[in-house]
Amino acid sequence: MYTFEELSKLFIEKFEVDHFPASPKTLYDPNRYFLQLGGKRIRPVLCVMGNDLFDVINPDTWPVAKAIELFHNFTLIHDDIMDNAPLRRGMQTVHEKYGQSTALLAGDVMLVKAYDYLNAISRDYSKNIIALFNKTARQVCEGQQLDMDFEKKQEVGFEEYLNMINLKTSVLLAASLQLGAILGGASERNQQLIYEFGRKLGLAFQVQDDYLDAFGDPDKFGKQVGGDIKANKKTFLLIHALEAASADQKTALNELLHSDGDNKVEQVLAIFKACKVDQWAASLKEQFMNEAFTHLEDIAVVAKRKEPLKQLANYLVEREH
Ligand code: IPE
Ligand code: IPE
Ligand code: MG
Ligand code: MG
Ligand code: MG
Repeated sequence: MYTFEELSKLFIEKFEVDHFPASPKTLYDPNRYFLQLGGKRIRPVLCVMGNDLFDVINPDTWPVAKAIELFHNFTLIHDDIMDNAPLRRGMQTVHEKYGQSTALLAGDVMLVKAYDYLNAISRDYSKNIIALFNKTARQVCEGQQLDMDFEKKQEVGFEEYLNMINLKTSVLLAASLQLGAILGGASERNQQLIYEFGRKLGLAFQVQDDYLDAFGDPDKFGKQVGGDIKANKKTFLLIHALEAASADQKTALNELLHSDGDNKVEQVLAIFKACKVDQWAASLKEQFMNEAFTHLEDIAVVAKRKEPLKQLANYLVEREH
C-alpha cells in the first residue's frame, strides 16, 4: 500500500519521459510544452490507487495511467479552444501560443499516443480496458457538446447541469478508478462501487472547479478567473443564483448574460455573492462527498486500505487550483 504522495511521485517519475518524436518540432513541441506545465495528475493517480486498493500494482497499470493522463491533456487542449481560454496551469494555452490549427493537431496526436500505451498491455484484459476507456471518451465528448449547447440556452435546469458535468468530468475520474480496479483483479461489485465513488467525487470536483472559476485567487488558480462568466457558461453558480435571486437581480442577471461589457464579471460576481452561492457550493460539495464516501465504505476491503483515497478525495474538493 502506498500513500497518495508516494503514488503521485512514482507516477510523475514514470511520466516524465519524452512521449513524442523529435520532428516535426512544430507539432510535438506544443505537446511537450503543455505536458511540462504539470497539472495535478490526479486521474492517473486515481487509476493506480484503484489497483492498489485491491492488490499489488500490476505493471500494466502504469501504461494505462499514462494513457489516462494523455487523454485528459488532449481534452484540455481542445477544451481551451472551445472555451476561448488564454491561461492554463498559470501559462499560455496551446492555441494562444501556437495557433488553433496546431492546437487541434497536437491534441489529436496526444490522443493517438494514449492508444499506443493502451495497445501495449496484456491481452488478458485489454478488451475490457479499452471498452471502458472508449465509452468514457465518448461520454466526455457528449458532455463537452452539452456544455457548449448550454452557452446559448437561456434556462438550464439543475438536473440538466448535473447530467452535463457527469459526462464532461465525472465519468473520467470514475473510469480511472475502475480501470485500476480491473487491473487489481477487483470483483464486478467492487468495480461498480469504486466507479460510483469516483462519479460522486467528480461531481464535487466540478462544483469546486466552477466555484474557483468565479471566486478563485488569480495567483493560485492558474486559469482566467471569470472565464465561465465571460463565456456564459451555465455553471451551478449561475443556476442557483437565478433560483435564489430577487426579481430585480434576476432581470439584471439575464441582461448581463446578453451583454459583453467591461464590468460583466464584477457585476455577475456581485449578484452571486448577494445570492450566497458560495454557501450553496459548500453544501452541495458536502452532499456529493457524503454520497461518494458511502460507496467507498461499501467496498469489500478493510477500512485501512481506503485511507489514501479518502485523503485524495478531501484534497480534491478543497483545492485552490
Ligand atoms: C481540469 O482538470 C478540467 C476539469 C475537468 C475541471 P484538472 O483540475 O484536473 O486539471 P489539471 O490536470 O490539474 O491541470
Ligand atoms: C472541462 O470543463 C472538462 C473537460 C476538459 C473535458 P471546464 O471547461 O470547466 O474545465 P476548465 O475549467 O477549463 O479546466
Ligand atoms: Mg474550460
Ligand atoms: Mg469547458
Ligand atoms: Mg472550469
